[in-house]
Amino acid sequence: MRFSGKTAIISAAASGICRATALRFAAEGGRVACLDVSDAVHDTVAQIRSNGGRATGHVLDVTDRAALAATLAQAEAEHGPTDVLVNGVGRSSVGKGGGEFCDSDPDDWAEVLDVSLFSTMMASRIIVPGMRARGYGRVVNIASVAFLMPTPKFCDYAAAKAGVVGFTRVLAIETAKYGVTVNAVSPGPIETPATAKHPPETRARVEATIPMGHYGKPEDVGAAILFLASDDAKFITAQNIVVGGGRGIV
Ligand SMILES: NC(=O)c1ccc[n+]([C@@H]2O[C@H](COP(=O)([O-])OP(=O)(O)OC[C@H]3O[C@@H](n4cnc5c(N)ncnc54)[C@H](O)[C@@H]3O)[C@@H](O)[C@H]2O)c1
Repeated sequence: MRFSGKTAIISAAASGICRATALRFAAEGGRVACLDVSDAVHDTVAQIRSNGGRATGHVLDVTDRAALAATLAQAEAEHGPTDVLVNGVGRSSVGKGGGEFCDSDPDDWAEVLDVSLFSTMMASRIIVPGMRARGYGRVVNIASVAFLMPTPKFCDYAAAKAGVVGFTRVLAIETAKYGVTVNAVSPGPIETPATAKHPPETRARVEATIPMGHYGKPEDVGAAILFLASDDAKFITAQNIVVGGGRGIV
């Protein structure tokens, strides 16, 4: 029960990595506000409640700044000041048909940067000043091995995720004196709805780049996120933990 008495705001909580993170945070005693653009976030909340945990669901597009500010205020009104902020929303333009950089559309980059980087900065801008004033906070931002291991067609995503790590490191040193830690987790290939769409040949090619030889589970990433969110990690800040079965060595 590492999070007994603690509150968290977790975005992208309807699915995959952040859903698993929200379920475990609540199972370990914390109250969690689950944010997502999909109504399926209510399924995450229902699952937490049926396990005896406490959670609320909030449907919004995190790139809508006014909606984000209103939702974060509502979450704090319902649960109290935020101890843990997990910024989980991110995606590339590949799913929308984005190609290699020389054929790419700047509007797609803008969207990917907005979803993956700007929303992380915006949520932090709203929540971290309160953490700093209270002298306690844990921020965990989700990056990706994509910026460590170049993959064709992922220029916009790699730029956004490298930005997430750069942002994490600067915010960490700015807030270190105030009891706030800021870290990133960079997943390798993980079994989620997005990667479930990989055709067998893609899957085989990707698996060949993973020293452990298989995709990870959302819970594997959730475990790293929640270690950084716990008091066991109180002297760790400005770090990026790669959860990739050995993929993404620098
Ligand atoms: N799955 C992987 O292999 C992998 C690898 C590296 C990094 N990541 C990163 O991990 C994070 C979580 O990914 P996942 O694989 O669990 O994804 P997922 O597709 O399972 O879940 C992502 C969630 O984000 C929500 N979302 C998307 N756009 C949103 C918006 N504008 N506002 C609010 N919610 C929005 C979706 O509705 C979805 O529920 C992402 O930042 C992703 O880039 C994933």
